[in-house]
Order: sequence, then structure tokens, then C-alpha cells
Amino acid sequence: MTADLILGKEVSEAIYSNLRERIDVLKAKGIEPCLAVIMVGDDPASLVYVNMKDKKCRELGVKSLQQHVPADTSQEELISMIRKLNDDDSVHGILVQLPLPAHIDQSEVIKAINPAKDVDCFHPFNLGNMVIGEADFLPATPAGIHQMILHYGIATKGKHVVIVGRSNIVGKPLANIMMQKGEGVDATVTVVNSRTERFEDIIRMADILIVAMGRPRFITADMVKEGAVVIDVGTNRIEDPAAKNGYRVVGDVDFEHVKEKASAITPVPGGVGPMTICMLMMNTIKAAEMGVRQ
Ligand code: GUN
Repeated sequence: MTADLILGKEVSEAIYSNLRERIDVLKAKGIEPCLAVIMVGDDPASLVYVNMKDKKCRELGVKSLQQHVPADTSQEELISMIRKLNDDDSVHGILVQLPLPAHIDQSEVIKAINPAKDVDCFHPFNLGNMVIGEADFLPATPAGIHQMILHYGIATKGKHVVIVGRSNIVGKPLANIMMQKGEGVDATVTVVNSRTERFEDIIRMADILIVAMGRPRFITADMVKEGAVVIDVGTNRIEDPAAKNGYRVVGDVDFEHVKEKASAITPVPGGVGPMTICMLMMNTIKAAEMGVRQ
């Protein structure tokens, strides 16, 4: 058996066509949705992400306000930039690209963002609402995975979802989303990490295995139950002299072998990746719509 492919591009295109309609409605009311992105320093991977977000805003007709400041910017300066954006009614979403330089306390910076504009959903207020199932925003990557599950009609009710990785951005929020009552969720969730005892035994019990650990091709076919759905959040650069830039991107799952055992699987790239920016755009449009209601 070769697995069906779960493709973020296909899912995100369906969502973008809905967002385009909502953007038209906002513009007819004289509102131009606006996302402000703050980037501190010149981390090359972050620059790539920030440029991708900017490009997608332009494609959709969302105003993109980029603020790029040097790596030695102080925490106070950064927080004062955020306060200005909080007070600016023409700005609907605020995103501070992570990671931040070591002299800045990431948690304090996130807490300075007005929760109504926190389109990353990193603020504890929004994360708390997510836990009780009352969120305005969901964190982008977990929300994107949920949308993929809905789009492909993957059964989740009562199923065992095993999440590998417990980050604040992916593992922890995803576990909360998958255990809520509702459509495309309602699952029984286990979260494991690299130190978990009987790691492989637990992973082998997964009906849906979601991997966000950051280790190239760590999950091999022998760890996966026959017929499982496998969602790979990993994006790891590995050296490849034959590739254009001398490297290529692989996931946390050994795709070539696991696809022969799984019933459905996300490729890397082209799986979860396109969903993250899509969900950021969805949150930005939602923030603009919430602004209209207030
Ligand atoms: N760095 C890596 N992923 C993300 C993300 O989703 N949002 C922000 N702000 N920074 C990131």
C-alpha cells in the first residue's frame, strides 16, 4: 500500500479563495487588512520566513508593514514599537518574528502585544482561551494541521493521536486543539518527547502520528502502525552536494519508507509548510473583521 498524499498547497488554496472573498467585503467597507511584522536582527532563516509572509500579503491585497531593526535593539525599544502598533487602529495583526536576540526576553515581548492583534496566538491570554475552546485565534501551524485533517476528512473522533514534540508553538497547542470536543478533533492525545520511556511502543499505537521534533528522518517505518495517518512538521536542512544550494529539506519522518505503511502522509516540502502562512493570513483577516465589530 502506498499512502495518499496530504498536500498543504491544495488545502491552503481552498482557504485562500475564502479569504479573498472576506478581504473584498472588508475593502468594500473601506478597511484594508494590515499585518505588521517586526524583525530584529538578520537571522537568515527568519528573513526567508518574513519575506514569504510579505509576498503572501501582497498577493492577497493585505497591507504588509515591515519593521526591520538591528540585532542590538533594546527590549524597551522593541516594546515601545509594539505599543505604537497596538494603538494604531489601521494595524490589525502584529507579529514579532522569533527567535529574538538573547538579550531580549521573548515572553515579555509577546505579552506586550494586544491579544486582539496577536495573530501568531502566542499571548498567554489567547493560549488560555484556546485551552477552554473559546479562542479567537489559534496558533498557525497547529491550526493548519487541523484544517488539513478537516479538508481530507480524516477520522479523529476517539482516535489515538500521538504528538512527538512539546514546543509552545506546535506540540502543546496542537495537543489542546486535538482534545477539544468538535469536528475534526475529539481525539485521545498522547504527547511524547525524545526522553519518553517506551517511545517507540507509544508511537506504534498512533492512529494519527504528528511529528514536530526537528530531527531529520528520525521516524522510521518500523515505528509506524500499518494504516496510520502521518503528519510531518519537520523542516530540516541536510547537506546534498547535488542540490542547487548544497542542501535539501527533509522532514522528521523517513518519507520514502513510511509512505509504504501509512494510509496518508504529508510530504516535506509541500505538506504542512504552506499551511502556516495560510493560517497567519486567516488570523489577520479575522483580526480585521473583529476590529469592524468593535
Ligand atoms: N519563528 C518560527 N516560526 C514562527 C512563527 O510562527 N511566528 C513567529 N513570529 N516567529 C516564528
